[in-house]
This record gives sequence, C-alpha cells and structure tokens, in this order.
Amino acid sequence: MNALDALHLRSSVPKLSGPLPSQEMLENIYKAAFSAADHAVLKPWRFLVVTGGSREKLGDLFAKAGVAKDASLNQGAIEKLRGKPLRAPLVLVCISSYKPHPKVPEIEQDLSAGAATQNMLLAAFAQGLGAMWRTGSLAYDPTVKNGLGLSVEEKIVGFLYIGTINGGTKQLYEPDVQSYFQVW
Ligand SMILES: Cc1cc2nc3c(=O)[nH]c(=O)nc-3n(C[C@H](O)[C@H](O)[C@H](O)COP(=O)(O)O)c2cc1C
Repeated sequence: MNALDALHLRSSVPKLSGPLPSQEMLENIYKAAFSAADHAVLKPWRFLVVTGGSREKLGDLFAKAGVAKDASLNQGAIEKLRGKPLRAPLVLVCISSYKPHPKVPEIEQDLSAGAATQNMLLAAFAQGLGAMWRTGSLAYDPTVKNGLGLSVEEKIVGFLYIGTINGGTKQLYEPDVQSYFQVW
C-alpha cells in the first residue's frame, strides 16, 4: 500500500483476533514510530509489548485498578476490565517518556509520542492488520501506571490493540476537508 492510501484510507478496527502478527510485520510497526516528528530527536517514548499470557496480567492490573477506585465494583464489571486486553493478540502500551530539555516542553514530547503511536496505527493498517487506539480512564489510573512501571514523568498516551481484522471494516465517509482549512 502506498503512503497516501494508508493516510487517506486508514480506519480503526475494534474487533480483532489472532494470530499475533509476524515478526516482520511487528518490526515494521515498531520502526514506524521512529519517523514521528520529534523536536531535538529526544525519542520521548517507549512501548510495552503485551502478548500471550502477559495480556492476562494486564487484565488483572486493570481489575485491580477498578477495585482500587471503587471497592463496590460488581463481579461483572471486574471481569469486563480483566477481559479488556484479550480483545487483540497484541497490546502496545504507548508511553510518553518526558526528558527535560531547555527547548522542548512536555507538551511537545507528548505530541511526539502521540505521533509515534499514530505512525504505528498506520503501519499496522498498511500491512492489512486491524488496529485501534484506546485509552479510557485506565490510561490515567495510578494503579495501572505503577503496575506497568511508569515513572512520575511518564504518561500512557494509548493502548494500541493490534491483530487480524475479525469482521467487517467500517464504511469510510468523505470528510468535509475544506471546511477545516481557512485561507488566512
Ligand atoms: C488518544 C486517543 C484515545 C482514544 N481512546 C478511545 C477509547 O478508549 N475508546 C474508543 O472507543 N475509542 C478511542 N479512541 C478513538 C478510536 O481510536 C478511533 O480513532 C475512533 O473510533 C474513530 O475511528 P477511526 O480511527 O476509524 O476514524 C481514541 C483515540 C485517541 C486519539
């Protein structure tokens, strides 16, 4: 797929299944992160690769975070949290990893980490994989952040769910591009 097709046609896929993408596909995805715009080339990101049984460990952490926030959470809600990482064979925890720099404020580093995440979404799509960027309150939850080993300077910018497209993909609509661009 050429680059413009990937940029113009990408869409998110919520329903994903195995198998885990091939090593070559994974390396293409990981490498794509590194062409994100990045002021001072700080590479202000890191990624946790969650596959196989580690997804269950992540689910346990989500459940623990849910209960820590709300001790009255019912069993159904707890199991729902526990099952979230099982929605794809691969979950990439995308982390903005702030590196103090005199010219690059934190917001720019967060934006770079977001751009790296978007690049990986596009690289997944370009290879025929399905992917979806998710956050929800779990991305900002202290129990989840601690359990994943984030430092105080770090933020989860997204959980990237990646796998085989399971079901249809959604109909793309033609955006009203021009209305978002004003000649100034
Ligand atoms: C930072 C960020 C967090 C997101 N979190 C969620 C989420 O938790 N749940 C969800 O359904 N969509 C979430 N989305 C939106 C989807 O990833 C997706 O972009 C949206 O459904 C629109 O679909 P599209 O990517 O095919 O245009 C998030 C997007 C971004 C950029």
